[in-house]
Amino acid sequence: MRIGIVGTGHVGGTLAELFEKAGHEVAVANSRGPETLRGLSEQLGPQVHPATAEEAARFGDIVVVSVPVGRYPDLPAGPMAGRTVIDTGNYYPERDGHLPELDDDRTTSSELLQEHLAGARVVKAFNTMRWDHLRDHGRQSSAMQRYGLPVSGDDVGAKRQVFDLIEQVGFEPVDAGSLADGGRRQQPGTEIYLAELTGGELHDRLGAP
Ligand SMILES: NC(=O)c1ccc[n+]([C@@H]2O[C@H](COP(=O)([O-])OP(=O)(O)OC[C@H]3O[C@@H](n4cnc5c(N)ncnc54)[C@H](OP(=O)(O)O)[C@@H]3O)[C@@H](O)[C@H]2O)c1
Repeated sequence: MRIGIVGTGHVGGTLAELFEKAGHEVAVANSRGPETLRGLSEQLGPQVHPATAEEAARFGDIVVVSVPVGRYPDLPAGPMAGRTVIDTGNYYPERDGHLPELDDDRTTSSELLQEHLAGARVVKAFNTMRWDHLRDHGRQSSAMQRYGLPVSGDDVGAKRQVFDLIEQVGFEPVDAGSLADGGRRQQPGTEIYLAELTGGELHDRLGAP
């Protein structure tokens, strides 16, 4: 599969490595331009291509957005239309600036991204685990107990694609519900955030979506 990654920092860079190891072709982008990602692509191999954000969005059957939430308005909406977009973002007002609709809990950061990327199918995932644990804690044998990662979204087919991807990189996907409901249940400050739970434990804590 072809995967675009917009935001290739701690989380996006880690996912690029995990997806490449799982056999996918990956286009990586950041805010400074493809030339600043040549080192990463040389390190990870020929299946990882430096790109602009627009190019990475067009490249991917699935596109990962892994930028600070305050940067969502900068993202190119046109090329992401029709794509499954994975949102790894977490709202931190001290980093992102205060967004009153999030401070008042009127909506969630993933719904804001969905609004901006009209036509895309946004799925929130890979946001509850620290980047270095994402890098190190995947378990390839499904005979071993795997760590769980919650998945929220409004499109069943898009969620299924993200479930498959999570399984391929050694974690257990757990359905957390819709972007509104599940998005709230997997954001910073919740009992599952950074909690390092097995799939079974995560399932029990989330209850039925
Ligand atoms: N760190 C963690 O352990 C962790 C875990 C789960 C979720 N998260 C969440 O995931 C998101 C990314 O976190 P991170 O720790 O990976 O951040 P990071 O290391 O600071 O990386 C952010 C990336 O976003 C890029 N970027 C910023 N604005 C952009 C724009 N307008 N267009 C394209 N790329 C842009 C940056 O590019 P430049 O460097 O070129 O500016 C950088 O590659 C955040 O919302 C964070 O809260 C973080």
